[in-house]
Amino acid sequence: MLYETNNPPRLPVKSEKFMTAILLQGREIADEIKREVRDEITRLSEENGIRPGLTAVRVGEDPASSVYVGNKVKTSHELGIASEHVHLDADTTHGELLQIVQKLNARDDVDGILVQLPLPRHIDEAAILEAIDPAKDVDGFHPVNVGRLHQGVRSLVPCTPAGVIEILKRSDIDIAGKHAVVVGRSNIVGKPMAALLLRENATVTICHSRTADLPSITRQADILVAAIGRAGFVRGEHIREGAVVIDVGINSVSDRAFAAELFSEADLPKRLAAIENRGATLVGDVNPKEAIEKAAYFTPVPGGVGLLTVAMLMKNTVDAAKTRRKI
Ligand code: GUN
Repeated sequence: MLYETNNPPRLPVKSEKFMTAILLQGREIADEIKREVRDEITRLSEENGIRPGLTAVRVGEDPASSVYVGNKVKTSHELGIASEHVHLDADTTHGELLQIVQKLNARDDVDGILVQLPLPRHIDEAAILEAIDPAKDVDGFHPVNVGRLHQGVRSLVPCTPAGVIEILKRSDIDIAGKHAVVVGRSNIVGKPMAALLLRENATVTICHSRTADLPSITRQADILVAAIGRAGFVRGEHIREGAVVIDVGINSVSDRAFAAELFSEADLPKRLAAIENRGATLVGDVNPKEAIEKAAYFTPVPGGVGLLTVAMLMKNTVDAAKTRRKI
């Protein structure tokens, strides 16, 4: 194919009917963002003599949280962020966790504080998130940052939905004027996702577990974001031909028959091998076999949005360091 310039479009255009979806791989985009963050950290060190610091706090033994926090701390180290992982016993009291957060708020070397969710049931999650200094709230979960996001004022923004916006923009997918449908209304993904899409001038609909006739609404979506936390929930019948489908879910599937419903003949053997060897395979909230037949673009799981979450956390930490230190 000939291009008018030396720069071919980053994504081929899905023009022919019956083509399968183009996969939006998160790796390349996450690596690009991490390179930008690393360059910024080098500049901050050389020109301002500072090194951004991130503290991740984890309470208890949730296995998924252990993997997520491990990735966050490891990536911080790779990029030159001074990071620490505070791991507390499951029986840590609300008061003890509150004190730890307050101490981190007071430390000048800590630019970002992240309390991994979910917290044990005896801890008041909302109160803990509200205790974090909004200037250090690199998750963007503090009510001040939530309010700023909805007012369209510059703020620290939740990492996963921010990563979705980066995937769309860096893949040259237009958002303005498009109908974006978000399935899921969590504080971590669904609600901030809707606010960010609105900020990008999409027309936004939020659907949830009580939405009547869900497929009739999701089929109107130019951009469909699935963030419900149920493996393979979004099926072909939910997707308009040619839509952009963003899968935010991360679920474990151990049932071989269910895996056979989710994956094409080409993908199934390695998924069954994962179930055999590791007990489960990772699946998003979208049925990939059916999505690939209907969508123009689709983010795979794993390898899609998940990789962006950590990259955006690194970016938020550097942004927090610069804003708090008035750079
Ligand atoms: N649990 C699941 N996702 C997240 C996240 O983005 N941040 C925190 N702190 N906890 C989570």
